[in-house]
Amino acid sequence: MKFARLLPLDIIKKKLQGIRISAVTAYDVMTAQLADEAHIDIVLVGDSCGNVVAGYPTTLPVTMDQMIYHCESVVRGSRRALVVADMPFMSYQESIEQARKNAGRLMKETGVAAVKMEILPSQIDTLRAVVDIGIPVMAHIGFTPQTMFQLGGYKIQAKTDGDAQSLVALAQRVADAGAFSVVLEMIPPAVAAAIRGTISIPTIGVGAGPECDGQILVFHDLVGLSATSPKFAKRYVNLRPEIVDALTRYRQDIESGQFPGPENSY
Ligand code: KIV
Repeated sequence: MKFARLLPLDIIKKKLQGIRISAVTAYDVMTAQLADEAHIDIVLVGDSCGNVVAGYPTTLPVTMDQMIYHCESVVRGSRRALVVADMPFMSYQESIEQARKNAGRLMKETGVAAVKMEILPSQIDTLRAVVDIGIPVMAHIGFTPQTMFQLGGYKIQAKTDGDAQSLVALAQRVADAGAFSVVLEMIPPAVAAAIRGTISIPTIGVGAGPECDGQILVFHDLVGLSATSPKFAKRYVNLRPEIVDALTRYRQDIESGQFPGPENSY
């Protein structure tokens, strides 16, 4: 029986068919509905909700309970997309047991079909252990926001030949450990191309240039709700000034007594 929703295997199939993969973040039911209406393949409930929704300066404070709340909302709003849950900082770094328990919670309590984990070379065994209990994992390498303090801030990764070779090797290990796809964040396009040429799982780029099997952006950057967004994010619409304008006119109508009018009254 074909499942109504896209599954990790469907994403792999798209790569094999040479069809590029679309992905976007969502943290709530309405964004999930919009992404589905636009036939986006993957909806990531990113721990970027910490920055975008909660206003934290980094993703580090995001908790499992917060991720579960956002994932439940997104799964309720989406019918077609593959929904992937980000594993928040310190929900999988302590031990394999902790990683399995929290990945299991996200799957069992929210209905997502996969989890995402930021992977350092020391975490390959953890990735493999989660895959081994039947949980599909999207890996995330390159710039990994959960380790941004160690990386020295928001910085492009793999700029030297040595670092580029290490990242290609890490991508290979991630694929060998069973990840069904890998997010490549903020790396030179040539390094993303080298990774794509080395591994067979889909590569999903965010600030990694065009030579990836798919692309992901933060929804709020894409629709121009964010006050500022990174160079790699393209604004397809600039909603922020339009919304501020609507709110300003609403306030003015209240102040002048023009809202509510007869058409808004019982
Ligand atoms: O948390 C997030 O939104 C992400 C994507 C930008 C890949 O990790």
